[in-house]
Amino acid sequence: LLPCICLCAAEYYLVDDRIGLGRRFDGIGGLSGGGATSRLLINYNESYRSQILDYLFKPNFGASLHILKVEIGGDAQTTDGTEPSHMHNENDENYFRGYEWWLMKEAKKRNPDIILIGLPWAFPGWVGQGSNWPYTFPNITANYVVSWVIGAKQHHGLDINYIGVCSECSVMLYLHSHRVRICSESITYFCSVASVHYPGTMTIKEAMITGKVLWSSEDYSTFNNNIGAGCWARILNQNYVNGRMTSTISWNLIASYYEDLSFGRDGLMTAEEPWSGNYVVESPIWITAHTTQFAQPGWTYLQTVGHLKHGGSYVALTDGNGNLTIIIETMTHDHSECIRPSLPPYTVSPQTATFQLKGSFVSVALTELQQWYSKLNFMNKKDTLFQNITPIKVSNGYFTLQLDVDEVYTITTVTSGHKGLYPDPPEAAPFPKKYFDDFNVSSPPFSEAPCFADQTGVFEYFRNLTDPGPHVYTLRQVVTQRPVTWAYDADQTITVIGDHTWQNLSVSCDVYIENENGGVFLAARVDQGGESVKSAMGVFYWVFANGTYKVTNDLGLSGTRVGIWHTLTLTVKGYFAFGMLNGYPLWKNAVVLQPLNGWAAIGTNSFEYAQFDNFKVDAD
Ligand code: GAL
Ligand code: CA
Repeated sequence: LLPCICLCAAEYYLVDDRIGLGRRFDGIGGLSGGGATSRLLINYNESYRSQILDYLFKPNFGASLHILKVEIGGDAQTTDGTEPSHMHNENDENYFRGYEWWLMKEAKKRNPDIILIGLPWAFPGWVGQGSNWPYTFPNITANYVVSWVIGAKQHHGLDINYIGVCSECSVMLYLHSHRVRICSESITYFCSVASVHYPGTMTIKEAMITGKVLWSSEDYSTFNNNIGAGCWARILNQNYVNGRMTSTISWNLIASYYEDLSFGRDGLMTAEEPWSGNYVVESPIWITAHTTQFAQPGWTYLQTVGHLKHGGSYVALTDGNGNLTIIIETMTHDHSECIRPSLPPYTVSPQTATFQLKGSFVSVALTELQQWYSKLNFMNKKDTLFQNITPIKVSNGYFTLQLDVDEVYTITTVTSGHKGLYPDPPEAAPFPKKYFDDFNVSSPPFSEAPCFADQTGVFEYFRNLTDPGPHVYTLRQVVTQRPVTWAYDADQTITVIGDHTWQNLSVSCDVYIENENGGVFLAARVDQGGESVKSAMGVFYWVFANGTYKVTNDLGLSGTRVGIWHTLTLTVKGYFAFGMLNGYPLWKNAVVLQPLNGWAAIGTNSFEYAQFDNFKVDAD
């Protein structure tokens, strides 16, 4: 007899609901913030912006997300920038800052059932009352978070389904008297959901036996190429298979921040060029669709889930009304490593898998199941992403698949799956070399001016009603106290803009110092932001209210004063920098050995009010 080659590798898997069901499925989501990860999205023109939102949220179109989690802005750096708080100070309340309100409404518009979660990372300074810790005065923090929830309802008609109190802060706070469910993030606690971050698909035994609802409420954070897609496919299945986690949320939702900031492109798709309109529907979007389009929150996992004999995993879910969805992934180790934690070695090989449907899924009428297929390629070959292939034949409750490595299959009774498609967006292009903004917008749709990415402090459109003439509409830095920080905010405020590769450029801006002891700067070649903003280098041209100026530690008299407008111009060319004040040369030939490139920026000497106007760049 010939040795049997194919059949030996064939393995059987049961899909059966007679032994009872598993846990309730709570949905797949994306996280905007923690921080400023959607910053550039809002500056896209229509219809590109709507197309992007459709790829993220529209049911039966793309990622069709079930959950949107957003940062509750805290005026501080939280990875890729700062997000504005709804309460810059104790007596301030404004529910129209930033872009998370807008994003939540856009998501709801597309999917009225989307689940909304809010979570703060950092807090305005007054919440800590001088301490850098949000739990020194728990009542203040609680009221602060609750006002955000109430504001969401009152001003935007948004019902927030879950809130947390502080991301990755190690103390928990329990709030009574409010409808929303409060969860403490990153650790297991007594709220309705126990959340962990980056669990590596594992749950500690203690948490498992409590029977509590377990979520991976922040996960992924991996560069969004095919390895990122592999990571996402593996954890979407195995967070349940290994860890019984019933929801997984991607940090981040969409990579809409300058790529040279922290964790560039760690989003489900990329939209980092509002100036060109270019965006990329990356492979993680289609990996998401394999689950999200065929199982909804409220469905239930079957108990028959697990690992495949030759590597990979499968989950099965049902709506309890006869619908069945099976998702299979065969991601190899090196093609599915996430950023953290490290992934222990394992092997995956091609295999034949026969599934046998049992219990309520054996039906004489069931002769075929819908089949959606992806294969990630790593050798210059074209990927197959979320393709609706010929339905698979089911006979007597059996069907068989030839599984190769790095594949995802969805086998389902659901027939509404759809691969959405828009015409290709415009080609990618660098940030325009000539750029100008006079901030003259009487009712800005967003509180921030296009493409300025705040890295410490918050820069907002401002209407200066006391100005007699040309500076009524300006950009104002509004954070006047060091926030309760989450990352290492700089001691100065700073917002960056432009192209990180810029070397030789002239940047000019009218500036207005408001603080008697204040100062402002204009900068070029700013080489770092995000979590490293504090150690940013560049060419910084400072002027102060007492009339002094400095450039990279050189001091001299500038004649600048508090309460009047000045125009600063900074030019860097090769190894030299030049500075002008009000159109006249003030200093020249400052030697700049490094950095050789970076963004343009403006900012203030401390946490203080100051205004900016007529910002202009002219890069080579
Ligand atoms: C998380 C954090 C996010 C982001 C991410 C980067 O721990 O909550 O805001 O910094 O890490 O991997
Ligand atoms: Ca203006």
